[in-house]
Amino acid sequence: MSDTSEPLLLSGLELGKIFRGGDGSEVVVLDQLSIDIMRHEVIAIVGSSGTGKSTLLQILGGLDRPTNGTISFEGESLEEIGSENLARIRNQQIGFVFQFHHLLKDFSALENVMMPKIIGGCPPALAEDRARLLLGQVGLRDRIKHRPSELSGGEQQRVAVARALCNEPKLLLADEPSGNLDSQTSDELHHLLFRMRDICDLTMVIVTHSKQLAGMADRILELRNGKLWADGRGATSVR
Ligand SMILES: Nc1ncnc2c1ncn2[C@@H]1O[C@H](COP(=O)(O)OP(=O)(O)OP(=O)(O)O)[C@@H](O)[C@H]1O
Ligand SMILES: [Mg+2]
Repeated sequence: MSDTSEPLLLSGLELGKIFRGGDGSEVVVLDQLSIDIMRHEVIAIVGSSGTGKSTLLQILGGLDRPTNGTISFEGESLEEIGSENLARIRNQQIGFVFQFHHLLKDFSALENVMMPKIIGGCPPALAEDRARLLLGQVGLRDRIKHRPSELSGGEQQRVAVARALCNEPKLLLADEPSGNLDSQTSDELHHLLFRMRDICDLTMVIVTHSKQLAGMADRILELRNGKLWADGRGATSVR
């Protein structure tokens, strides 16, 4: 369960996001939304299609900017820290997993997982050690030389999870990580995420349509009408 004595990892304060459609009309996706994410928490974000879950996740991870409001990571405002520090936080402290794995098709599982560390300037031998460890932890020790097309959908997502964790992020953001998998493979992926949470000491925010996955989280927040709503089963720190 979430522990309110844990320090605050990421907070979004009065976030707004307005998109302008092709005809110039405005779509208000986030409306003065606030959220506190405590270290080690697992939060599930649910809601109907088109309510803005992916938009919110991208904003929380610094991949997109809110129209207004502030995001702070460990007390540092992402608006104020400058683009270099923002890139560092995004690359080193936050991992992303998406519905579709986005693995590079011409590279092996091992190379895909090593990539974030190599890009960050890590010596290849060290990046390979980390990638081999992670691929073992996600149960793919005997698939490291396979390319994405030579892996099953579930295995591809495991590689994507390993890649997201390569730089040892504190926060894992996952957008419908099992949205493309059958129910048994989804189930395995859900348990894998929680196992990796324990191994890597993660905080996780997971957008999901899966009741099973949402039910494993400490808190379930529903995105509706631009705001987050607690589910009434003991939510503690939603603001
Ligand atoms: N770049 C954009 N320009 C204009 N409108 C956008 C843009 N991106 C998203 N939207 C609109 O914002 C709304 C929220 O989109 P978003 O992808 O965040 O929803 P979602 O909750 O993740 O949906 P789903 O469950 O289907 O993935 C949608 O109505 C979408 O059309
Ligand atoms: Mg989405």
